[in-house]
Amino acid sequence: MDAPVMSPEVARPRAVERVVGGQGVMDGAGVRINRVLTQNLQRRLDPFLMLDIFGSNDPGDYIAGFPDHPHRGFETVTYMIAGRMRHRDNAGHEGLLENGGMQWMTAGRGVVHSEMPEQEEGVMEGFQLWLNLPAKDKMAAPWYRDFQAADLPRYRTGEGVEVTVIAGTSRGVAGAVSRPVTEPLYLDIHLPAGAEFAEVLPAGHNAFVVPYRGEVALGETQVPRGRMALLGNDGDGVALRATGGAAKAVLIAGRPLNEPVVQHGPFVMNSQEEILQAFRDYRDGRFA
Ligand code: CO
Repeated sequence: MDAPVMSPEVARPRAVERVVGGQGVMDGAGVRINRVLTQNLQRRLDPFLMLDIFGSNDPGDYIAGFPDHPHRGFETVTYMIAGRMRHRDNAGHEGLLENGGMQWMTAGRGVVHSEMPEQEEGVMEGFQLWLNLPAKDKMAAPWYRDFQAADLPRYRTGEGVEVTVIAGTSRGVAGAVSRPVTEPLYLDIHLPAGAEFAEVLPAGHNAFVVPYRGEVALGETQVPRGRMALLGNDGDGVALRATGGAAKAVLIAGRPLNEPVVQHGPFVMNSQEEILQAFRDYRDGRFA
């Protein structure tokens, strides 16, 4: 943990455009998920395609995990709050993601992998974010890396707010991963009761906040845990405050690609023809 970091100047925090409740979905082999960033928000929250919160203390909800499935054309960022998940892919990579750990996977032209719980009891909780790739990188070579909790850069503000920098740069602290085109910022923010946290954001970048413990206020808007506060683009940054006790939230922002988005399940490309090609390539075993 570094020395206290000063608050940046955010004179006009962005307002909350809407609070999204999310949608209960089943994915993988029947894992219960709260999908807060759904397909109808892909334009509005470009370059982000999806945000799932998986969280259950009932192993029956998660134990079957996500057996072998493909991805093409985007990146997945899996951040574990609690529990353990094992990842295996068709390139022979294998890794165990534990409490507080993060996996960044660039599917590029294609990955086939499984994501399976490594426990038979207790709480399993985390986030999976899908970040789009620019058209020029959609068929790039796949890449992935696991970061354990201790590998993730952190700092503490003068108000005692603890911030983990998963992606991008916050107050001069470079995160675990950076991406030049979409410039994602991904922060996990732990606020003591009553504390405030502010972050400067470029006006054009789309941004949202999801509290997962307690609740936070952004301006006049209260946002309970498990909901997504979609931020308007007018203003010079974001400011959130823990109301009614300590709170934890993720803040995610990025630069839109402004390219066509065509998604079919685990394939996200720029045209229908590229989607059909993805199906053919997967069927013919060309994802290796
Ligand atoms: Co996957």
